[in-house]
Amino acid sequence: MRFKDRVAFISGAGASSPGWSNGKAVSVLLAREGAKIFALDRSPEHLAETLEAISAAGGECVAHTADVTREAEVKAAVDRCTARFGRIDVLFNNVGLQAIGGPEEIEEEVWDRLMNANVKSIYLTCRHVLPVMVKQRRGVVINNSSMAATSFLYPSIAYSSSKGAVDAFTRNLAVQYAGKGVRVVAVRPGLMATPRITSRMKAKFGDGYEEALNQRNKVVPMGAMGDAWDVANAVAFLASDDARYITATELVVDGGLSASALGHPWDDTERNL
Ligand SMILES: NC(=O)c1ccc[n+]([C@@H]2O[C@H](COP(=O)([O-])OP(=O)(O)OC[C@H]3O[C@@H](n4cnc5c(N)ncnc54)[C@H](O)[C@@H]3O)[C@@H](O)[C@H]2O)c1
Repeated sequence: MRFKDRVAFISGAGASSPGWSNGKAVSVLLAREGAKIFALDRSPEHLAETLEAISAAGGECVAHTADVTREAEVKAAVDRCTARFGRIDVLFNNVGLQAIGGPEEIEEEVWDRLMNANVKSIYLTCRHVLPVMVKQRRGVVINNSSMAATSFLYPSIAYSSSKGAVDAFTRNLAVQYAGKGVRVVAVRPGLMATPRITSRMKAKFGDGYEEALNQRNKVVPMGAMGDAWDVANAVAFLASDDARYITATELVVDGGLSASALGHPWDDTERNL
C-alpha cells in the first residue's frame, strides 16, 4: 500500500482500444496500492473500462471528461479533484498522440495537434497542479515520454520532436521545483504491445499480423515488446517514496532497444562485427 491516503491525477486514463493501455494500467496499479484516482480522459467511453477495473479492485476513482489541451477544462478538473480529495500527490501526464511521417508528409494541422496534445497539455496540467503540490510541499509529476525522443524507429517528426520537448520540460521543471518538495521525472517506453498499437497493426497487416508482431518482438534485445504493466510498474516506483531522491531524469523501459545499434538481439555469431 505505497499510496495509502495519496491522490493521483492521471490524464489519458482511458484506453483508445479495449485492453490494457498505459493510463489504465497505471490507474489500476496505483489504486490497488491505496491511491485515490482522478481519472481524466476526453472520451468517457475510453474511461469506462478503467473505472470498472478500479471498482473491481476495491479502489476509489472519479472519472472526469476533459480535453487537456484547453486551459479552462484543465483548471476545472484540478478544482474538482482538490474539492473531492483535498490534495494531489501524483500527476501522471499520459496523453499522447502519434503521427507517422516527416515534414514533407504531415500537414501543419497534424504538427499543431501533436504539439498541443503531447507538450502543451503537460504545461497546462503542471500550471494548475503545481500550486497544490507546492502548498503540500509534496508531489511528483511523471511525464510519459517515448524512446522516439532519442532514437529513430520510423519517420515521426512531430511525435519525436514532441517527446524530446517532454524530456526537456521534465528536466527544466525538475530543477525549478527541486527545493519545493516536488519531483519531476519521465518514463521513456520503447516498443509496447498496448491496444492502440496492436489494433493498428491488426488493421494494417490483417492475416500477416502474427508475423508482423514477431518481427517487432525480434528487434528488441530482450526478445519481446513490453506491455502497459511494464510502464505501470516503472511509474509506480517513480511515484513512490522509494524514488524520493530521483528527479530530473527519464526511466527507460524498452528491453534494451534504444541502446542497441544492431536492431536485433546480440548473437555470438556476430562477434566480428
Ligand atoms: N503504446 C506504446 O507503444 C507507447 C510507446 C511509447 C510511449 N507511449 C506513450 O504512452 C502514452 C499513452 O499511450 P497508449 O498507447 O497507452 O494510449 P491510448 O491511446 O490507448 O490512451 C490515451 C488516452 O488519451 C486520451 N486523450 C487523447 N487526447 C486527449 C486530450 N486532448 N485530452 C484528454 N484525453 C486525451 C484518449 O482518449 C485515450 O483514451 C502516450 O503518451 C504515448 O506517446 C506509448
